[in-house]
Parts: sequence; structure tokens; C-alpha cells
Amino acid sequence: MLHRISALPPPMLFWLLLLPWPGLEGSPQQPLVLPPGSVESHCLPRMFWLKLNQAFLKGKDFSLELVDPNGWPAVPLEAELASRCGYVLSSDVWGNPVFRASLLSCHVMNWGDEWFSLGVHIKVSRFSDPLVTYVHTMHCTYSLWAPREILCEENYMEVSVKVDVPKVSEAKVPEQRISRQWMDTLPEMMKLGMNREGAYGGSQLAQEAAYKTWQMVFYPPTGRKIMAVSSVSKLGYGFNHTGSRVFLRSPYSTNESETTLVEGVPVTTVRSTALYKRRWLLLLIDTTVSCPVGGLSFTPSSITWVIPSILPSLTLQPSAFRSENVSLGVDGQRVAEAASHGYGLSSNMTHIEVTIPVGARGGWSQSDILHGHYGTTYSIDLLLEHTWTDSHWHLTKLLMIKPITTPFMAQTLMVTDNTVPETRLFKVLLGSVLPHDQLVAVVVGRMSYAVVDSEHPGYNVLEIPFPNGTKGFLLDVPFDDPNVLKEYVNRNETKYTLLVDFTLSVGPQQKPFHQAAEVECILEDVELPQATGTCDGENMVLTIPMAGLQLYWYLYVGNQRLSPTSTLPKGYLLTTNATHLLLKVAVFSKGLAYEDVSLQSIQVRLDVALKKADTLETLDIFSVSCDHRVSSDFILCFPNGTIAVSALMMTDPSIDMGKATLKDRTCKPRESLQDRSLFWFHITNCGTSVRVESGHLIYENEITYEREALPRRGVPTITRDPEYRLTLLCYYQSEEMLTQVLRLGSNPRGKRPLPYGDGTMVQQAHVRGPRRARQTLEIQWRISKDPTFSVFYGGDAIAMKQTSEPLFFEVELMNYEGAPVELLLDKCWMSVSPKFHSQPQWNVVVNRCGVKNSEITTDFCPVDKSGQVKSPSLVKRLMVRHTRPAPGQVYLHCLTLVCPEGAPYGGQCPLGWEEADQLSERGYVAMGPIVLQAPDRLPAEEEVPARPGNSFYQAWLWLAVGILVAVLAFLILPKGRLSVMTMTVRRKK
Ligand SMILES: *[C@@H]1O[C@H](CO)[C@@H](O)[C@H](O)[C@H]1NC(C)=O
Ligand SMILES: *[C@@H]1O[C@H](CO)[C@@H](O)[C@H](O)[C@H]1NC(C)=O
Repeated sequence: MLHRISALPPPMLFWLLLLPWPGLEGSPQQPLVLPPGSVESHCLPRMFWLKLNQAFLKGKDFSLELVDPNGWPAVPLEAELASRCGYVLSSDVWGNPVFRASLLSCHVMNWGDEWFSLGVHIKVSRFSDPLVTYVHTMHCTYSLWAPREILCEENYMEVSVKVDVPKVSEAKVPEQRISRQWMDTLPEMMKLGMNREGAYGGSQLAQEAAYKTWQMVFYPPTGRKIMAVSSVSKLGYGFNHTGSRVFLRSPYSTNESETTLVEGVPVTTVRSTALYKRRWLLLLIDTTVSCPVGGLSFTPSSITWVIPSILPSLTLQPSAFRSENVSLGVDGQRVAEAASHGYGLSSNMTHIEVTIPVGARGGWSQSDILHGHYGTTYSIDLLLEHTWTDSHWHLTKLLMIKPITTPFMAQTLMVTDNTVPETRLFKVLLGSVLPHDQLVAVVVGRMSYAVVDSEHPGYNVLEIPFPNGTKGFLLDVPFDDPNVLKEYVNRNETKYTLLVDFTLSVGPQQKPFHQAAEVECILEDVELPQATGTCDGENMVLTIPMAGLQLYWYLYVGNQRLSPTSTLPKGYLLTTNATHLLLKVAVFSKGLAYEDVSLQSIQVRLDVALKKADTLETLDIFSVSCDHRVSSDFILCFPNGTIAVSALMMTDPSIDMGKATLKDRTCKPRESLQDRSLFWFHITNCGTSVRVESGHLIYENEITYEREALPRRGVPTITRDPEYRLTLLCYYQSEEMLTQVLRLGSNPRGKRPLPYGDGTMVQQAHVRGPRRARQTLEIQWRISKDPTFSVFYGGDAIAMKQTSEPLFFEVELMNYEGAPVELLLDKCWMSVSPKFHSQPQWNVVVNRCGVKNSEITTDFCPVDKSGQVKSPSLVKRLMVRHTRPAPGQVYLHCLTLVCPEGAPYGGQCPLGWEEADQLSERGYVAMGPIVLQAPDRLPAEEEVPARPGNSFYQAWLWLAVGILVAVLAFLILPKGRLSVMTMTVRRKK
């Protein structure tokens, strides 16, 4: 419809515009003027340039149409039309649509090759809104046409050549020479073409339209092609002329194009000649066009674009080539000082090189997510103009338009820990990202929040701009935030761990991207509790601050954990107030250490260990020591086997307690007063006997007082001293393994098994008639020097033997009264320790039989009644030959049985163990140490080491403490009355 209007003469057109035209009013086709700011256009050298604002087009569809100057309907811009007619619809680096058109494009109005104008329709629609068409007309002038101009656009190459018919008067050379010159420039094929043209040219020349008199000759590698201009247009070429110029436009890949390497850079060329013949006039115009198409290389920091200086197909005389000017433009604007923008532009005889630092002004960086990686691309639209001459009068201008985008450059988003521990504030920096990237959400620990979330003011996010134009996000989270993980580590440090997950919205497509980070900070901010201890008469008191207890630390006494809820041993009292924990322990409770034991006082120490709750590593030990005055008697059974006893004199008339002794009469008090004495001995000494009962090892000794009797010689008959016998018992728990092996009978004492060492003292009364059954079997042992069992090793000397020599042991049941009995060795073994259950063990006697194997041979030696042996049935003698154990200290341990004499199972290897079990009494004896020397290395006599002394102070007494619990029965005799001496203890030495 419009084309009809414009086809009318101008006055008519005016009237028609004023009159209402049916169907035109309100039509979506009616052109409107674009709103301000939505479009921007200007003139590049030889081009129209139009930019549409993407903000204006957001969410809309748009298309372009070219307004026809001849009044034909506007033509939609399509790809084929664009490359043939000299248009390109592209976009700038920011994404704004850009439309460029050559001044020589199809729909341009041209006034004398100097004034140009082009109209475009911009059709905009939103899917529900009606289509709106805006019209925009551009005007440009250009007069600096070079004789040849070449344009290398994104989608086409264009060459235009000035065509002047030279005036005859100007040619100062003879006509003949000119003619030869012209003919010389004609390639052979051209001449052939002319001839062929000439052959059938008659009809063509007859055509009136000047355009039709043109023909094109292409020279692809496959061979010359001659065609009429109408055919050229069908192949996608644009060929036409203006008043003074002839031009050819070509897409980059046609059948006639070829791409070759020039100085290492691919160059696409279409070689052609335009031919115009009209009667007497023949015009041959070289319309060859050539454009470099590659030459880009990238590094992470720069872009390099190289093109050849000389394009051979455009330079017929390379020797005459002279580069006149190279200039650079960015985003459609010529750049006067390339270096001041950071761009590099250099040229030499072979190459022109442009270098652009990535991120330089005029370009644009864009972020994106590719295969889960964050990365950026950088784009810049370059424009390069090269002007050269290849003879004095032939100037060529080459204009290249080159939009460049770097490949995707993956970038690691760094999470930097900027925390200053003392501030107790995590500072985590995420970056760097491009300015249009946004932080949309942050997850701290398990707590998620959006960045613009005022509900969590504790988390502060700051956007930090960097000097290079990028930015970062700084997140603050206090250490004490509930979403920060806290862990107590080492001695006094806390490890704070911040788990954070950032969510970014990246690039123009706002793709989500997650970046997780874990930041740790260890700070010495834990104060270990300090305890204070006091003594208050009967108690020891420890005061410990509550803070952190049960959370970081536990308190332990021995291996018992102290907590307000746990059941504490007797004598322990745990209370708490607002700030402190108070532990009150009575002086003779279990688990205390007894140091500096004397008759007057015992120093008691309570040790409370501060242990880490997770590893139970001991960090500190709080000790409180109290000096406790003692006036009563006591017995202490130390876990290392030492026994301390304070015995009180309780007889009337009084006796001198300093003269009391243990079973071994040589064991005298360590300290004594008038009415009491302190004994200090080890369970392996001083005649201490031991038995096994109900899972306990029970050690027994006795304090006695040897009464002075009259007469001193002869049979003693009279004494004025009272009898004094104090039995001492220490109970030690034996191991479970042992109790199973021993199949122990019922507990005759009817006491509950005790979990730790315990002691008791029993005052023995003098009773006429048969003595009641003893608490323990009193078993005496000796080591004989030879098989005669007449010479024994002395009390303090250790039996020294060479490993090759046999060992001789004698075991005797002492002080046994009652029905005749026999002592049997049920089981004996050697070990390197005096401890009952020490490993390894080498069996010597099993089931009352001597072991005979490759390592050990045991023989029972006969025992005859003699001066030394009153009852042979109470004595057993062993000879042990052995190769194991190796040289060193050894002990012989024996479990003994006492059975009625003459019982059917008597003898050495009886059967019927079950019966024996019921009738027998059991005992245990450990003999030694015997120092075994390697053969011929017996030391001299004075080198013989003493038996272990009684230096067992500082014992840790959780396991074994015995306190006097016994009933002290004593006999009060009327003053002056004489009692009959009934001393029964026999010392065998
Ligand atoms: C050549 O240009 C003239 C004048 O602009 C135009 O009328 C004609 O259609 C053009 N021919 C081609 C093939 O483009
Ligand atoms: C010319 O410049 C190119 C690109 O910068 C370079 O590779 C070449 O070596 C240079 N040639 C000479 C002769 O300097």
C-alpha cells in the first residue's frame, strides 16, 4: 500500500496523507518514531551504524526492514539479503543489537556519491501486544573515497572502485602505447572472454539498460567463469555501480572464493574483473576483493590479532607497495592514541599486529558457568583501517570490522580467610567476580539466609570493589555464632570451624553457582580450671571452678569419674554452688595416697586428675595433702605389697611395744613409743604367708611379744608378761583369670569379696585346748644349696645359681595343729616376678606331679624324719633342673593343699581331685628371688644384692588400703598374776 502512495507524484502524496485512508488508521504497519534513548545511530567511515537499546527491547521480539527508496514495500532483513546488499545485524559487547549498513548497500539513496540516506523499519512485538513498527532514517556524507575501498565486514567483503573515463588530453603518452598498456594488463583468459563476448555481444549491446552491459569474470582455482550480472546476483554477489564507482560484494564462502595462507594468516579472496563494453568503449575493472579471516590468538591476559600487511591479490606490484596509514578503532570509534588505552598497534613490512589486554577499556567481560566452572569471556569490537599505495596514483583503503570474544576462561573463585583471631570474627572474602555477578544467598552452618535478609543482622556481607574493576564479597560471622562449630582441642585451645556456602547469580543469564568453603581458626581461649585445696580436721576439701567441667573436662580420682550424678565411693561428698564444685573427702577414704607414715601422723594426699572429656588425657592433677594426727592403731596395705601397721599396746600389765616383732623375729618395729609401735614390711618378707580365697590373695603376718620367762635357762615355767598376739591380714584382689583356674571354695569368712586391697588385725587370745582353725596356712620356704637339704641360703641373701645347676626348694607347713595332715604341692611354676599372676610362667609341678619336659625336669626329693624334720608329711622338697627361664631373677610359686594324712588320694600323684577339693585347705607361697647367672659368672659374695628394702613411700593407694577393722580382743590379767608361757611361734633358721 505504501509503495503506491510514494509512487504518486509529490503533490498527490501530500493530499493523500491528509485524507483519511481506509484501513490505514490504527494499522500496526503505521510507522512510529522511536522513543528517545531507544536507538542511537551515527556514521562510521563508509557505513551507517545503528544501535538499539537492549533495555528497550527487553522481553520483546523485534525485526528489521529496509525501506525501499523507489517506493517498493520495505524488505525484511534476511541473511542472504544482508550479505548481498551490505547489511549486518550484530550486537555489541554489552548485548545491544547493532545494525550496520554499507553506504553502497542496496536500499541507500545516493546523491552524487556524497550524500547517503537509509531508512529502516524496526518492528517490535511482545507476544500479547500488537506489533508496533517504528521508522528510523539515517543520513551520512562521505567524500573521501579512495580509488579503491575494501570493506571486510562480519558477513561480507565489499570492494568499490572509482571509475573515471580518463580524458584523452591527460594522456601524455602516445596512443599506441596506451593501447598496448591496456592490452598488457588483460590476462589471457580475459582476452578470450572479450573475444567470446564480442562473438555474441551484439544482442546484449542492443539492450538499453546500462546495467545489463556489464559482465563479470571470476577466476576461482577451478577455472575462469564468465557470467552476466543478473546471474551474479543469483549466486549471492552484489554488483552495481553508482555515478562514479563500481562495486562488488561477496559473502565469505562462495564457489568462487578461495582461502589461502598469507604470511601465516588465512585470507579469503574472490578474484574477479568487471567488464563493460559499449560500442567503442571497453572498460575492464579489477573487482578482486580479499579479507584476512583469522590471525587471532589468545592468552589468559591478552588478545593478539595479526593480519598481513600486503594482500598479494590486491597488490599487483608488491615492489611499489607503500603502507600509508594504519589506524585502530574500538566499538565504532577511531582511537587516536592506541597506546594510551593500553592497546598495542604495530606494523612492519609483513604484518600488522594489534594486541589488546584482556579487560582493556572499550571491551566487556562477562561471566558464565560452563561444566560447573565459573569463568569469564572478554569481548571487544575492533575496527582496523589500512591505507596503502602500490603505485603513485593507486590508493587502497581497507577497513576491517572484527568483533572478538575470548574463549571461556575458567577461573577459580578464591575464598580467602582474612580472619584476625583476636577479633573473634570470621572474615571470609569470596572473589573476584565480575560487577554484574550477584551474591544471592549464603548458608552458614545449617542456617541459610538471603543476602538482603535483615533477619540475620549478625552476618554482615559487604561488597568490596577491587581496583581492576572486579569485586568480592566479604562475610563476617562471629566465632560465637551458634552456627559456628566449636571444638575444644589441645590443652587450652578452641577450634572454630565455619562452614559456608555462597550462591552467586552469574552472568547475563543469572546462572546459579555455589561455592562452599570451610574456614578454621584455633584460638587459645580456654582457661584451665585452677583448684584450691584445704584441710578441715577429718576432711580434705578441693574447690574447683565449674566452668567447662563435664563439657571439656572430667574429674577423676584414680579411675573413678567424679560427677554430681555418679555414685561416689564412701567418704566422698561432692557439692556444687553457682560457680564452684566442692569435693570433700574423709581422710581414710579409698583412693588416697598415704605418705610419710609415722606413729604420730599420716600424711594423706588426695589427687584429682583433670582429664580431657574426649581423650581422657590428663591435663592437670589437683593435689591436696593433709597431715592427719593418729592416736589409734592402723594397718595400711599398699598396692605394691608394703604393709604398714601401727600396733597399740593393750595389755595389763603393760609390755614394751618396742620389743614386739613380726613372725620373723628379726623384723622389729621401725619406730616405737611406750604404748605403740610401727611395723613396716613387704608381703614377701618377715614370714608373711599368703593364701588364695574368693578371688583374693590374703597375706597374713602376726605381731607377737616374747614374754620374759623364768627361769631364763631350762624349761621356762613362769612369766609375768601377758600374751600378745596381733594377727595382720591384707586382702588383695586377684585377677578373674586366676579365680577361674583355682575353682575356689566358699568363703569361710563370709565376707563380701573386696574390690581392692584391705587389711584387718585380729588379736589372738590365749585359749586352752586345741587352737581353732587358723586363718591361713603358715607355709615356710627355704632354698637349699645342695641336694642334702642341710645348708640353706641365708635370710637376706638371694640364692645365686648358675642356670645349669639344679635348684632345691623346701616347703614346710608350720604351726599346724589338729588331726595329722599332709602338705601337698598342687601346682608350682616359675616366673620372673613375685607377682602371683605375672606372665610368662613355666610349669614345674602340675596336679601334684613333677613336670618333665625338654625345658624343665622336676623331681620330688624324699623327706625323712630327722632333727630338722619332725613331721615329714608336712615337708616337701623339690629338685628343679631347667633351661628356662633365661638368666635373671626367678621366683617359684606354689599352690599348696593340706589334706588329712593317709587319705586315699594322698601321695604324690593322687587321683580324685574332687574329694581332695572338699577336704583340703589351700595355700600359696612365692619363693625367691633366685638370681640365675649365666654359667661361670657368679659374682663375689659382697656383690650379692640385698632383698628389696621397705622403701615404699609415696604409694598410690587407690587399689589397696587397709584400715584396722578388726575386733581387738585382749586379755586383761589380774595384776601380779603369773601366766603360763605358751609361746608357739617357731622360727626356723
Ligand atoms: C543497481 O542500482 C540501481 C540504482 O541504485 C538500482 O535501481 C538497481 O536495482 C540496482 N541493481 C541491482 C542488481 O541491485
Ligand atoms: C613483523 O611483525 C610480525 C608480527 O608482529 C612479526 O612476527 C614479524 O617477525 C615481523 N617481521 C619483521 C621483519 O620484523
